[in-house]
Parts: sequence; C-alpha cells; structure tokens
Amino acid sequence: MSRTRVMLVGAAGETGGSIANGLLENPNFEVHALVRPRSVQKPAITALQDRGVQIRKGDLKGPEESLIDVLTGIDVVISCVGPAEQQDQIPLAKAAKSAGVQRFVPCGFITVAPPGGIMWLRDEKETVYNHIKQLRLPYTIIDVGWWYQLSYPRLGSGRTDYAMTTANNEIVGDGNTPVALTDLRDIGRYVAKIIVDDRTLNKMVFAYNTVLSQNEIYDLLEEISEEKVQRNYIPEEGIYTRVLAARQSSETYPFDPVKFIPRYLAENQLSWGIRGDNHPDYAKYLGYLTSKDLYPDFRPHDFKEYLETVVRGTAKGVYTDRYISKAQQRFFPRSESSDSLYTRIFPRTESSDSLYAR
Ligand SMILES: NC(=O)c1ccc[n+]([C@@H]2O[C@H](COP(=O)([O-])OP(=O)(O)OC[C@H]3O[C@@H](n4cnc5c(N)ncnc54)[C@H](OP(=O)(O)O)[C@@H]3O)[C@@H](O)[C@H]2O)c1
Repeated sequence: MSRTRVMLVGAAGETGGSIANGLLENPNFEVHALVRPRSVQKPAITALQDRGVQIRKGDLKGPEESLIDVLTGIDVVISCVGPAEQQDQIPLAKAAKSAGVQRFVPCGFITVAPPGGIMWLRDEKETVYNHIKQLRLPYTIIDVGWWYQLSYPRLGSGRTDYAMTTANNEIVGDGNTPVALTDLRDIGRYVAKIIVDDRTLNKMVFAYNTVLSQNEIYDLLEEISEEKVQRNYIPEEGIYTRVLAARQSSETYPFDPVKFIPRYLAENQLSWGIRGDNHPDYAKYLGYLTSKDLYPDFRPHDFKEYLETVVRGTAKGVYTDRYISKAQQRFFPRSESSDSLYTRIFPRTESSDSLYAR
C-alpha cells in the first residue's frame, strides 16, 4: 500500500510540532513540511528534516502558482498557522484544489465555539471554512479544547513558572463550568487517526481528553503540590464588561494585535468560562464527531499525571523558543492576565524571526 503524502504547514509551531510527531510515529505517512524560506534553518525544522520530514520551501503569502507546485502529489494538507494568519490559508486552499489534494485540514485546533459573533477567532476560521466549501474541496475541521499546558494556575512558590507562559490566575465566573481539555502532545496522535478515516471526511471532529472545571483543576494542583492557590474569581458581569470594552475598541481589520489580544482573551473567557461552549455535548449539538466515539481505544495522556510532571519540574513548556521584541513590548502593558503568552503568540505581524531568540 502506498504511503499517504501529508503536507504540514506550520511544522515549526506548537500545534504543528505535535502533529509532525504524531505523523512520524506512523510509517504509513510520508511527511512533508511547507516552510518559509527564512525559517528553513530553524532548529525545529532541521530536527524534523533529520527525522525524515521532506522540506518544501513556500510561503502562504507567495504566488498561488508556487503553492500549486509545492502541493503537487500531496494527498492531505494540514494547516496550523497562528491566529493572525488565518486568512492566508485561502490561497492555500485554492492551490490545494488545483493540485488535486484529497483532504484539506484547515487551522481549527481551538476550543469549541459557535460561529457568528461569539469569538472573533472562530469567525476568522469560519471564513476560511466557507471558502473551502465554496471550492468543494474535501476537508476535515479538527478542534481540540483547551491545551493542558495552558489550563493550570501559577503556584505562589514559583515552582511551575518554568513551564508557564502566563500566571493564568483568573477563575471565570464561579469556576464550575466544565471545560474540555487536551494534552498538546496528543493532538498529533489524534490527527494521524482522523486524516485517514473515511468517517471524518467533510466533517468537524472534536478531539479531547477529559472534561474538568477550573475549580477541579485548582483542587488537583493543590493536592499534588500541597500548596494553597489563591482563587481570584472574575464574576460573569466582569467578563461581559471586558468583552464589550474590547469589542468597542477593536477594529479587526486591518489586523491590529494591540486591540485584538484583549478581545481574544475576553471572548475566549466568555465562550468557555461563561457560556460553556467548550464541552463535548455542545460540540455534538453543533455537529462535531468526537474522538471518544470515533476512537474509544485511544489512550490520551492523563491530566493528573501531566500536572505531577509540571510540579516535579520535568514538563515541557510551550512557546519557550520565543520572545517578544522590546519594540513590541511597549505596546503591551504587562498584567497578570495578558502578559507573555499572548504577547509571544500574536504579534507575528511580519516575520516570526523577530520572535526568535538569537
Ligand atoms: N486549543 C488551545 O488551547 C490553543 C492554544 C494555542 C493556540 N491554539 C490554536 O492553534 C493554532 C496554531 O497555533 P500555534 O500557537 O500552534 O502556532 P505557532 O506556534 O505560532 O506556529 C505557527 C506556524 O505557522 C507558520 N506560518 C505562519 N505564517 C506562514 C506563512 N505565511 N507561510 C508558511 N508558514 C507560515 C509559522 O512559520 P514560521 O516558522 O516561518 O514562523 C509557524 O511555524 C492557532 O490557530 C491557535 O488558535 C489553540
């Protein structure tokens, strides 16, 4: 049987790295990565090359003809670009259609939320999904819940700081809303199953590991660490006020990270924390298939075991290879809730090279 040729876009990123690992575990995949010319020397890319990933130079912002060339002979395209780069996938989808790609996995990989005015980021992605459908390009949309790696609060002792991107010390509402969680390391393992599964063609899939409330996450961390964590509840009204203020000051086009980041943060809290959107039952209501139904034998990483590694000091942090330039930092007043994670991720306006430690 011939191998499935997969083109990964964003292989140097966090989600892309997990997906590369998941694909490389399975010899039935021939893994390719579309990498911007300026990024081919990144350590993450050379490491993938050493593991057998075939690198093809390309840029989603480049001419569509060159994207068609890069995608020729590819069976499945998977895109994991950052939040600010969602619209750049439209030429990629057109090129995939022209090149005869059999399945296109656009960049979903977020928490479950309904389209249409709840979360701007979801709507950005939805625009891309609609283009794919207008092209009649075969697709699968995959969402994953909240990463384990971003879900737990900081410990007062600072023991978990090495693995964290932000203090994450706000409990939304009463903290009892159930939230679906997935270990970043499992995303690629799910994707490797989903992209060769006929049941998932032209469908949305919700791949998740477990469901916990924020209070339960705090309880678990306190039990493991034997440290008390202060509970800083943000009432429902407070979230609405934030969302309204962020929306009022935000003009989403042209993309402006200074306005977009507070909006993204507030809408995200509204969606999973107050509305309870990021839950398997709601996902099914929206029409998603779930990983639990599709792959009942899948063994995900256990959340408690993951937290134990965080407290022990042996977990791998996320976005550890990036820093925000001094120039960008001026635009982001640092606060406990909007500091390093989002300033690291979102200001990818031109080149991620400026975010890379030298
Ligand atoms: N569920 C959750 O809890 C959660 C958490 C975080 C993120 N997410 C979602 O996951 C998705 C991926 O985010 P991430 O943080 O994993 O991404 P990331 O680490 O920022 O990586 C993005 C990748 O996209 C590549 N890229 C960007 N523009 C490109 C272009 N024009 N041409 C080719 N490649 C391009 C970048 O390439 P370079 O190497 O050249 O820069 C980089 O490898 C996002 O849509 C986000 O919403 C979800």
